[in-house]
Amino acid sequence: MVDISIKELDYESIPYNLLLLADDSKDAIEDYISRGRCYGAYINQNIVGIYVLLKTRSFTIEIVNIAVKKEYQNQGIGKKMVLDAINRAKLENFKVLEVGTGNCGICQLALYQKCGFRITHVDRDFFNKHYEEKIIENGIECVDMIRLSIDL
Ligand code: ACO
Repeated sequence: MVDISIKELDYESIPYNLLLLADDSKDAIEDYISRGRCYGAYINQNIVGIYVLLKTRSFTIEIVNIAVKKEYQNQGIGKKMVLDAINRAKLENFKVLEVGTGNCGICQLALYQKCGFRITHVDRDFFNKHYEEKIIENGIECVDMIRLSIDL
């Protein structure tokens, strides 16, 4: 497994290209990075991954974006970032960590469940309602948002 260090990013140094791997909507990204906190995963001085935490209710926080640079995917970095988010949320006394992903995101659904998340519900037609462009991954059209959470 590769060795990474994770640190909080200043608003000015947030790499949009990485956030766009996880979310096609620039408007959504603008909204949550202005309200949330971004963390970068580094190998030496190079940023290879990012995740964003957003407090949504008193004791609930959500991973609203997580992405690893294409050439560094499938090397355990995404899992390390999810586990880092879980630890961070626990340390900050949150009770629930949530995440949502498209119905077509087979790798994403595997990753979250392997980190202990359980499916809570399906936000049907979320992508039809909120995204203009059609998203297809793994040959499946992305229409519903699968919502998952972990009790901390
Ligand atoms: N079946 C079973 N397990 C799978 C599968 C599969 N088809 N695909 C992946 N996995 C597992 C891996 O085996 C691994 O588990 P393990 O370590 O227990 O074996 C786990 O999923 C995660 O693997 P990592 O190597 O840690 O994942 P990676 O570093 O590639 O990061 C990520 C995952 C962030 C989803 C990355 O692929 C990415 O950036 N994708 C594009 C952006 C994206 O889709 N982001 C998430 C959108 S949802 C949101 O942002 C809230």
